[in-house]
Amino acid sequence: MARILTGVQSTGTPHLGNVLGAIKPAIELANDPANDSYLFIADLHSLTQIKDGNLLRNNTYAAAATWIACGLDTSRSVFYRQSDVPEVTELAWYLQCMFPYSRLGLAHSFKDKSGRLEDVNAGLFGYPMLMAADILLYDAEKVPVGKDQMQHLEMTRDVASRFNHKFGETFVLPEVLTRESTMYVPGTNGGKMSKSQGNTINIFDDPKTLKKVINKEIITDATPLEDPKNPNSSVVYNLFKLVSSENDALEMANALRAGGYGWGHAKKALLEAIVDGYASERSRFNELMANREEIDFALAQGSARARVVASDVLSRVRSKIGY
Ligand code: ADP
Ligand code: TRP
Repeated sequence: MARILTGVQSTGTPHLGNVLGAIKPAIELANDPANDSYLFIADLHSLTQIKDGNLLRNNTYAAAATWIACGLDTSRSVFYRQSDVPEVTELAWYLQCMFPYSRLGLAHSFKDKSGRLEDVNAGLFGYPMLMAADILLYDAEKVPVGKDQMQHLEMTRDVASRFNHKFGETFVLPEVLTRESTMYVPGTNGGKMSKSQGNTINIFDDPKTLKKVINKEIITDATPLEDPKNPNSSVVYNLFKLVSSENDALEMANALRAGGYGWGHAKKALLEAIVDGYASERSRFNELMANREEIDFALAQGSARARVVASDVLSRVRSKIGY
């Protein structure tokens, strides 16, 4: 039995890249009876970027609805909202006081964000210590994250070892579980699908909106319909491959190579694969968003379970420090 923990920020409705690259693989781990899983929505981290309470709340609902709609069994894992467990902010403070200022300034994510964002607040700087607190507060053993988060995991291990060294064994040193599937979901313009690039596909959109996005936004080259085409260099095919069966993908690749099959045909197939392939997720998502009590109930149960562990670990930390 391994204790797995991971969080996602609530910065918008998760897109196809988030679903395939992060959410589905984490659900697989969480639904595996060999794991004891903690999954949460990092709405305190989102405050570094979003200052609108309604938007923060809505994003949190959309994120929670996505996890549930994509198959998370909330009775099997501890599924909670970060801000419902205030113990985490207290632990984040203790950790900040144990970690050198100069190391935080070297974080890639801070350097990247502080160069890009208008609002460079102190929360953005302390972000990795709140993330370390998220992990250490639950004695997590394995943390599945994307490659961009690996440095934050190193900092988590670093601050945990510093603390253990100074005050005696207190924290479990977590291991990073990088998702080996080099899943890279391209966006409509061919770059990495990302909220900040405005190139996303939202699987929960209604079919009409999806049709518009697929037809108008996905880039294609100007090869005439009758000419052979290279599937691998096209965004439509690369997306289709990720949302269809191996057989259907092979069929499309052959048709494109043979000629007489246009990008319009490929887009129509992609639209169908997304509309039909995610039909049950879409209807469940809409049902949850229209009836938020179900989400509230799941998160309240999760937070209550999370707080039992959190307060226990925090007492251990306080007494080690001498409070
Ligand atoms: P965004 O780039 O849209 O802001 P995030 O950085 O919030 O997305 O990513 C949340 C999770 O989704 C991360 O674990 C990340 O690895 C995964 N993810 C995001 N975009 C993609 C993508 N295009 N392909 C695969 N995984 C992705
Ligand atoms: N920083 C992570 C991201 O941007 C989200 C996150 C916050 C997280 N706390 C965490 C991930 C703890 C794993 C464990 O994707």
